[in-house]
Order: sequence, then structure tokens, then C-alpha cells
Amino acid sequence: MSQTDYRVVTKTVPTFYFVGVTTRQSSIMKVFPRWMEAIGRPEIVIEGIDHPIHDNPEAYRQTVTQIKYDPLSLGALVTTHKIDLLEAARDMFDELHSSALLTGEISSISKRDGKLWGHAKDPLTAGLSLDAITGEGYFGRTGGHVLCFGAGGSGKAIALHLITKQNRADRPERFIVTNRSADRLYKMQAMVESLDTDIEFVYVQTADPQRNSELMESLPDGSIVINATGMGKDTPGSPITDEALFPRNGIAWEINYRGDLDFWHQAMAQKESRNLTVEDGWLYFLHGWTQVIAEVLHIEMDEATFQRLAEIAAELRPPLVYKPRGK
Ligand SMILES: NC(=O)c1ccc[n+]([C@@H]2O[C@H](COP(=O)([O-])OP(=O)(O)OC[C@H]3O[C@@H](n4cnc5c(N)ncnc54)[C@H](OP(=O)(O)O)[C@@H]3O)[C@@H](O)[C@H]2O)c1
Repeated sequence: MSQTDYRVVTKTVPTFYFVGVTTRQSSIMKVFPRWMEAIGRPEIVIEGIDHPIHDNPEAYRQTVTQIKYDPLSLGALVTTHKIDLLEAARDMFDELHSSALLTGEISSISKRDGKLWGHAKDPLTAGLSLDAITGEGYFGRTGGHVLCFGAGGSGKAIALHLITKQNRADRPERFIVTNRSADRLYKMQAMVESLDTDIEFVYVQTADPQRNSELMESLPDGSIVINATGMGKDTPGSPITDEALFPRNGIAWEINYRGDLDFWHQAMAQKESRNLTVEDGWLYFLHGWTQVIAEVLHIEMDEATFQRLAEIAAELRPPLVYKPRGK
């Protein structure tokens, strides 16, 4: 297909795209219109573009063509296809932010001064979420390490966020990451080694719940365990066994907010006995969306605006209820 073969639909209303897999099921479809009213831009509509996982490169180029050449197509938030879309359509972007160049993916497509921009917002948005969970100086205070299951987009973003922390007390001494395929671990290692860091990174290729659990049980008290595999939402199960013990006084962070969330339930079961702080991915969802909206609509996402939008979204949030196993 040549460039001229791609279709461009001339939109009659300003349109913000959500590029994903099952976009209709996301909370954003209900939240977005309320947010646009709140920021005084009720004319902007959201439209989902669903691609199957690892879609044909031409399909990604069609999506980027629509945004690039239709004046009322304002931009997009990209999920799941962050790496594939950039690889398929890199030459169509006029500018790529350094975050996109470093991580090799984009979650935000926007237009500025006639140029098409790609940004990787996850290092910022995963970072904002993690900072809100830990508070300042967490690692200096606790001596905890980080164990992250999954070396995909989010795992890499969390690593990058911690590497760039200025204060020693905000950086863990050790960051262990496990992943099913070796390829993602190599890519993460290449990113880490291109940067200057005193964090010791340990890469473990496994998807074995027993092995993941052993790694978790070897952590010092106060450590942070993150489920960035998509298990419990995109695929069934959890990266750890039901019997595995979480670190005492530690943090368990399930980065999704919907689905069966097995890992979150496993952590909730030990909340009291291990004095565990248990978090889900709702805040990450909010930061992810508000930062891309700010980029696409050229608005400032200050604290007051973020809080206002967070309150609106909370009214529409699907309930998350802890159910002990077997009940
Ligand atoms: N709350 C939010 O707003 C928010 C924001 C971002 C992401 N998320 C969610 O977070 C999840 C991860 O996102 P992502 O963008 O990082 O996805 P991703 O790039 O697909 O990464 C997931 C990684 O986990 C690995 N994996 C799968 N099962 C594993 C296991 N049992 N043990 C170890 N590694 C395993 C995969 O390995 P392979 O290399 O073998 O495939 C893959 O590299 C998704 O469900 C996404 O929807 C939520």
C-alpha cells in the first residue's frame, strides 16, 4: 500500500482517538465526555480504534494517517500497541520525544505547530502513580528493593522512572525484573545500560509462579512487588502462587484496576498479617489519561485540574471488592 492508498475520513467534530484492543470496555468511554464538560470542551468526542494484538503494520499506518491528515482528528492515546505502532509508522512522525526514543514506544499522538508528535508518557505517569504510593525517600527509609513481574512497556517505564530519581533515598538498591520471553529482558537491559545508574538490575527469565514466588520471598522487608504482566486482566491467573509470602511492611502494586485481579486478591489476603500496603492501577489510569489529554489538547494538567477530573472519574469507577478465596 502506498501513502495515497490510505483513507482519510473528514471529521465534522473534534475527535480524540483511543487506540487499543477492546476500547469499548474501558471506563474512559464514560469518563471522557464528563471530563470534556469539566474543562469546557464538550464538543470533543472520543472514538475507539480497535486493533488485534500485533496487527499488520499497514493497519497501524492507516490509523496514524487519519490522525495526521484530518484537521479535526486531534490526537490519540495508544495502549497495548505502543511498540508495534511506533515500529510500523515511525517515519510518519515529524517529532518523537526523547521518552519515545529511549523506550521505543509511544502512548500519545498529538499535533503541535503543524507537526505530528509521539510521546511515551508511561515513565511519567507510572512514576507519578508510584510516587503517590511511596512518598518521598521511601527506599532510604525502608531499605526495600523492587521486584517487578513483567518487562514490557510498564515495567520498563517504572525502571526508567526510578533510575532518573535525583535523591539516593528515592532509588532502590536493587531492581529485580522477571519476564516470560528473553527478548523483553534484553530490551530492558539495553535501555538500562544506555543510562548511568547505581541501581543493581537483576534480570530473570521465567513465567513460573513458583520461581516468581521464591524471588518474592527472598526480598527484604519493605520491598515493593509489582504485577506488570497483565495477568489477572489480559490473561488469567497471577505470576505468583497463593501460598507465596509478600514482604513484611512492603507494598504490593497491581497495575490494573479491572479484571479478576488475582494478584491484588492474593495481596489483600495478607494485608494484615504482613502489614502490607495494597494498591491497584486506578491512579495510573487517571495519570495516563490526563497527561495524554493535556498533550493533545494543549492544556496544563495542574494539581487542581487533576483532582477535579479524579473526583468525576471516581463517581464512574467500577467497584473493586475484595473477596477472600473460596468464598
Ligand atoms: N492502570 C493503567 O492505566 C495501566 C497503564 C499501563 C498498563 N496497564 C496494564 O498493565 C499491563 C501491562 O502493560 P504493558 O504495557 O507493560 O504490557 P506488555 O508490554 O505486554 O508487558 C507485559 C509483559 O509481561 C510479561 N509476562 C506475561 N506473563 C508473565 C509472567 N507470568 N511472568 C513474567 N512475565 C510475564 C510479558 O512477557 P512476553 O515478552 O513473553 O510477552 C510482557 O513482556 C496490561 O494489562 C495493561 O493493560 C494498566
